[in-house]
Amino acid sequence: MNVRIAGTGSALPGKILTNAELEKLVDTSDEWITTRTGIKERRIAAEGEYTSTFAAEAGRKALEMAGVKPEEIDFIILSTVTPDFPFPSTACIVQDMLGAVNATAFDLSAACSGFIFGLSVAEKYLRSGSAQKILVIGSETLTRIVDWNDRNTCVLFGDGAGAVVLEASDGDHSLLSTHTFSNGSYWNLLYQPGSGSRNPATNSRTIDEKLLYVTMEGNEVFKHAVRAMEEASVKALESNGLLPSDIALLIPHQANRRIIDATAKRLGVAPDRLFTNLHCYGNTSSASIPIALDEANRQGVIKPDSKLLLVAFGGGFAYGSALINW
Ligand code: ACO
Repeated sequence: MNVRIAGTGSALPGKILTNAELEKLVDTSDEWITTRTGIKERRIAAEGEYTSTFAAEAGRKALEMAGVKPEEIDFIILSTVTPDFPFPSTACIVQDMLGAVNATAFDLSAACSGFIFGLSVAEKYLRSGSAQKILVIGSETLTRIVDWNDRNTCVLFGDGAGAVVLEASDGDHSLLSTHTFSNGSYWNLLYQPGSGSRNPATNSRTIDEKLLYVTMEGNEVFKHAVRAMEEASVKALESNGLLPSDIALLIPHQANRRIIDATAKRLGVAPDRLFTNLHCYGNTSSASIPIALDEANRQGVIKPDSKLLLVAFGGGFAYGSALINW
């Protein structure tokens, strides 16, 4: 049984925070942020907006495009590192919002690679015949776990969600492969120290020592990201007997323009076959690839029967790729 993407959707907060506005918050400059990251502005959740509200909006749009009713969905797989609550899963809240009454809903944690991991899990359910239609969502409200006094991290992240409806299909327009990888040796290079069982949010030390915020060794993460995204991409190409020149569009995780350019260069994918939108949204972690995929789809950038490579890297480290014949 093949697996195809039947619809895509995305949702972004209306509030924009520009580099010029960040210059008033921390000791930074538009020039530094632009040259080091490629980011010009990001979207920030307003009061009353959460990971679930973005996820439900993106999911609804994907369902509409697919012509699928919420009650037809068998699973909702939602990747996030910023759930509404530690429990229940945000996926269950989204199930309620959408009225997807027949779905089994759960969250998946693989940091910025969560959407690719979600695709991979969904693919297995669909290929085995355990499900017919699955909603895979990446949704994040990272600006709620960022220290707005720390210029090293606060300039990088943004909020939003992206979603796809995957369905079992006999056709050729399909998800050709997914590959996932983890390297837990480096878990402490990129993480949120507080709020879990080691440093509970109920402990005053967690607040006093600012453990609730994203912590990152940026330089180290950078080096690993380029190598790992190349490895995951090569695996996808080799397992499908394809060359970099066969890829019509590369949609990488949108973390840093320099990471993306270095990855594309090492792979031999020409710059005009890269899709990027991080200048508008910053790093939205597991939402970045499905947001970009939805934009590329709605803008008509993806041509039918063309090969699309998605590749991600993030905390864990967790990384992975997906190859699609659109
Ligand atoms: N404005 C001005 N100066 C800054 C800022 C800022 N916003 N942030 C850091 N600096 C300073 C640092 O303090 C440092 O100053 P110093 O030399 O006086 O100490 C200097 O800039 C250089 O810092 P570096 O960390 O060496 O800068 P680098 O070129 O590595 O860029 C960055 C930093 C952008 C974080 C880069 O390392 C990066 O993108 N790393 C990967 C991060 C990433 O992609 N994370 C996400 C991947 S996984 C996921 O998505 C969760």
